[in-house]
Amino acid sequence: MCGITAYIGKGQALPFLMQGLEKLEYRGYDSAGVTVLNNNQLTTVKCKGRLKNLEEALKGHDMTGSVGIGHTRWATHGIPSNLNSHPHNNADGTLSIVHNGIIENYRELKDILIDKGYKFQSQTDSEVVVQCLDYFYKRGGDLMDAVHKVLNCIEGSYALCIIATKEPDKIIVAKKNSPLVVGKTEEGYVAASDIPALLAYTKEVYFLGDDEMAVLTKDDVHFYNRRNEELHKDITVIPYTLESAQKGGYDTFMLKEIHEQPTAIRETMRGRIFNGRLVFDELKDVDFTKFNKVYYIGCGTAYHACLCGAQIFELENHVPVFAQYASEFRYGNPIIDDKTLCVFCSQSGETADTLAALKLAKEKGCTTISVVNVLGSSIARASDVALYTAAGPEIAVASTKAYTTQIVLLSLFATYVAQELGYPVDEDLLTQMDKIPNYVEALLKDDPIFEGYAKKLENQHDCYFIGRRLDYASVMEGALKLKEVSYVHADAYVGGELKHGAIALIEEGTVVVAVATQPDIAAKTISNIEETIARGADVILFTTDQFDTSAVKTVYRLPNVNPLLMPLLVAIPMQLLAYHTAVIKGRDVDKPRNLAKSVTVE
Ligand code: M6R
Repeated sequence: MCGITAYIGKGQALPFLMQGLEKLEYRGYDSAGVTVLNNNQLTTVKCKGRLKNLEEALKGHDMTGSVGIGHTRWATHGIPSNLNSHPHNNADGTLSIVHNGIIENYRELKDILIDKGYKFQSQTDSEVVVQCLDYFYKRGGDLMDAVHKVLNCIEGSYALCIIATKEPDKIIVAKKNSPLVVGKTEEGYVAASDIPALLAYTKEVYFLGDDEMAVLTKDDVHFYNRRNEELHKDITVIPYTLESAQKGGYDTFMLKEIHEQPTAIRETMRGRIFNGRLVFDELKDVDFTKFNKVYYIGCGTAYHACLCGAQIFELENHVPVFAQYASEFRYGNPIIDDKTLCVFCSQSGETADTLAALKLAKEKGCTTISVVNVLGSSIARASDVALYTAAGPEIAVASTKAYTTQIVLLSLFATYVAQELGYPVDEDLLTQMDKIPNYVEALLKDDPIFEGYAKKLENQHDCYFIGRRLDYASVMEGALKLKEVSYVHADAYVGGELKHGAIALIEEGTVVVAVATQPDIAAKTISNIEETIARGADVILFTTDQFDTSAVKTVYRLPNVNPLLMPLLVAIPMQLLAYHTAVIKGRDVDKPRNLAKSVTVE
């Protein structure tokens, strides 16, 4: 999704803007641009394509200036093109803006402005912001007044940074349902849509809330609400470093993040188990006796973690639990009330559908708990209680360490609730959990084996994944990982459903990835596997040493741990299979086509 950078200070703006945009590349984008303000003049350079195109385009322009804004665009309204790229300026080049989000009523506003004689350069929704701003600013008042008026007109979501030649000593930023952080540096103040863009300059940040604005100057920053009342904000110190947001010797962020999982899992568990008891101080005010229903809600990989978390919670707490895609939940008229607990899972904490689902749950009186990775993110702040995974920054679009740490936290959370409700605590799960990082380390050493399996997929168009119960969650995740990074079409099926349709797809040489780790159901999955082998499938089976797999040629034996924890181990070969297939096929592993790291639009 789009990225934003902004700088005002004693130094030059451009270096900050460009390094910040580079740090935000992982979010996915199709064009980029910058505006620098100098001697009461704006210089804007923008173009379609990667940042290296922008660097080329910048040659020959004088980009001196200590105030500037930058943007990477991920097209929503209008094709990727030079004109549709941000920043957008008014006709006489006195105002420049960058925008993330979607202006939902842009057509209506555009028509009104066209009637007033405004001419639009782009097909974007964002351009109405600068044209509208021009309209109000030229009718009197200062920039802040004009920005307030614009915000009263626009509907939708936005993170905005605005500069004006008439008020060259400030940047105005505003936020609603799209992330924006302000950083304090030694040179002045900066802003960005995500923390990695700031880390080379500062770890001291202020989080903007929805419907809040800030005025940045080189010496200070002031925050306001929409009634123009000044707000006090405390600085948050970011607990990770720039190095942790860089590749550190690995070819890709995805591979680095896969290898960070032992540490990420250890860090997520840290302090949660003490003398055999679960510790979740954040939850001390939640009365778990009142819930008669629980929802687990997320998107993509986070949803797959929810599938695991929901099964474990139901088993341990004897209450009906539903896992739902956030996009379905928010439009599904769910029957929920103050006796419903809703758990929201999100790496970024900014996913638009998950945030909207959370707001709906709050409106209906549910208790909301979020499991997020990014400190101070919108979902964390909007929920009643935020529980943090300690994965560290996840840069690759494909989620890996966020997924396993989400499962760890959700398993511990479910067990904590059982403890609080007086149900027997699964002590074996706690003991085994402690050993998971070591098992993950051992699995990572088997990488050459998984790379070998990936070679089977080199010339395949399709691949099918099968599993049951918790293994179904694992194969859903395996299939998503494979398709998103390698572009091999992959579908996951519940083993029992194969003969109801999907088995028609199996022919000589079709690759089937099967997972059978759950003792109560593995034999059934193995029967399903045999049915595919009978039709010519080339099966790769991930299982433990407990089951008879003589019918299958390619079998990988995972360590035999508590069945509820098996998804944590299965995740490793699934990730590495996808990774190596993508590498073999020459894909852009960290930035797969059409995808964005943080999906902040619906
Ligand atoms: O930041 P979130 O966890 O809310 O993101 C949810 C999905 O967009 C994300 O998991 C996506 O499916 C990943 N690309 C999967 O690898």
